[in-house]
Amino acid sequence: MSRSLFLLALLLVACKTAETPAPAKPVEPVAAPPPAPAPAPAPAPAPKIELAPAPALPTRPIGLPEVPSPADNPTTPGKAELGWKLFFDKRLSKDGSMACVQCHEIARAYTSATALDPKVGGAVNIRNTPTVLNLGFHTSWYWDGRMATLEAVSNAAWKGQLGADPAIVAKTLNEVPVYKAMFERAFDEPATADNVPKALAAFFRALTSGNSAFDRAQAGDKKAMSAEATEGFKVFGAKGCTTCHVPPLFTHYDFENIGIGDDPGRKDATKADADTGKFKTPSLRNVALTAPYFHDGHAKTLEEAIALMAKGGNKNPNLSTKLKPQKLSPKEAKAIKAFLEALTGESTYTTEPSLP
Ligand code: HEC
Ligand code: HEC
Repeated sequence: MSRSLFLLALLLVACKTAETPAPAKPVEPVAAPPPAPAPAPAPAPAPKIELAPAPALPTRPIGLPEVPSPADNPTTPGKAELGWKLFFDKRLSKDGSMACVQCHEIARAYTSATALDPKVGGAVNIRNTPTVLNLGFHTSWYWDGRMATLEAVSNAAWKGQLGADPAIVAKTLNEVPVYKAMFERAFDEPATADNVPKALAAFFRALTSGNSAFDRAQAGDKKAMSAEATEGFKVFGAKGCTTCHVPPLFTHYDFENIGIGDDPGRKDATKADADTGKFKTPSLRNVALTAPYFHDGHAKTLEEAIALMAKGGNKNPNLSTKLKPQKLSPKEAKAIKAFLEALTGESTYTTEPSLP
C-alpha cells in the first residue's frame, strides 16, 4: 500500500471513529416488565353438582281451595323440595340433635303424641304441637296468631324449637355441596339465615291434605262416607260446631275462648284484655290422628274433646258467646266422631326425603 493510501485509510478510520456516538449515558435500569404471569394454579374446581330437576309441585288433593303464593317468596318446585329436606334434617338444630319432624311426625298428621314437647336444650313448650298440614290456608300462625307470615313462623320455630344460630347453620349447610347447589338453584345464592325459613315456608305451602272420605262424598261419591259419618256431619252442623269449624278446612282461623286453662293465649299477641284465653280454632282435618287435643294437650281422646266442646267449654269469664251448650245423645256423639274420622285425608308428602 502506498503511503498516501495508508494515510487516507487512517483518516477514514479516524472520521468513522469521530462519528461513533458517545456511548449512551448509562440509564437507570428500567424495571423489566413483569413476565406474563404463569397461569396461577387454579384452586381445585369444586366438583360441579349436576342436580336432577326438582320434582314438580304436588297437585292439590281434592276438597281444598288454592293455596296463595306470596309475591316476596313464590312457591317453586326447587324451594319446596329443599324445605322438605330441611324439615327432616337434624343439621338445622343447634347441636345436631333434633329435626322439625321430631315433633311434627308424618304418621300423626305432623303432630306429636305428647301433650307438651321439650325443645333442644330441654325447656318444655307451654302449648301442644299443632299440625303443619294445610298451613298455607292460615292467615296467622301459632296458637295465638302472633306470627304474620309462614316465613316468620318458620324462622321462629327454627330458632325457638331447634335452638339454631341461623348464620352458623347456613354455613354448615353450605359445606354440603348438594345443599349449596340446591340453594343456588332455588334462590340464586347459597344458604343464608334468610332463605332457610323461605324454603321451609314454600314446603309448607305445598304440604296439603285433602281427598278425605268427606271430600270424595262432597265431590259426588255417594259411597265414600258411611251412613253414620253422613249423619254425623248433619249433627255437627245442627249443634253449631260449624260456627267456628267452617268447611272446607273446618276452621274460621279466628280466635275463641272455650275456657281451657289460664294461658293468656291471643292476649300474648295483641295485649288486649278482651283476647285473654283465646286460641286459634284448629282445623279438624285429620283430627283423628292428632291426639292429644287442645292447646294444652290435656284431652287424650277424640270422645273427650267432642264432649268438652258439646257442653259449651269450661266456665270462664271470657267464654266465647258463640259457644252454646248442646245436648248430645251417645248416638249423636258417636256420629260426630265417625264424621271427624271421615276428615282423615291424604297428604302431599308421605315419605321421608333422602338427605344430601
Ligand atoms: C320440640 C317440638 C317442636 C319442634 C322440634 C318443632 N316444632 Fe313446630 N311447633 C311446636 C309447638 C309446640 C308449636 C306451637 C307453638 C305455639 O303455638 O306457641 C309449633 C308450631 C309450629 C308452626 C305453627 C303452626 C300453626 O298452626 O300456626 C309451624 C309453622 C311450625 N311449628 C314449624 C316448625 C318448623 C319449621 C320446625 C323446624 C325448624 C319445627 N316446627 C320444629 C313444636 C315443635
Ligand atoms: C266458638 C267456636 C267453636 C265452636 C262453636 C266449636 N269449637 Fe271446637 N274448638 C274451638 C277452639 C277455639 C278450639 C281450640 C281451643 C283450645 O285449645 O283452647 C277447638 C277445639 C276443638 C277440638 C280439638 C281439636 C284439636 O286439634 O285439638 C275438637 C275435636 C273440636 N273443637 C270439636 C268441636 C265440636 C264437635 C263442636 C260442636 C259440638 C265444636 N268443636 C264447636 C272453637 C269452637
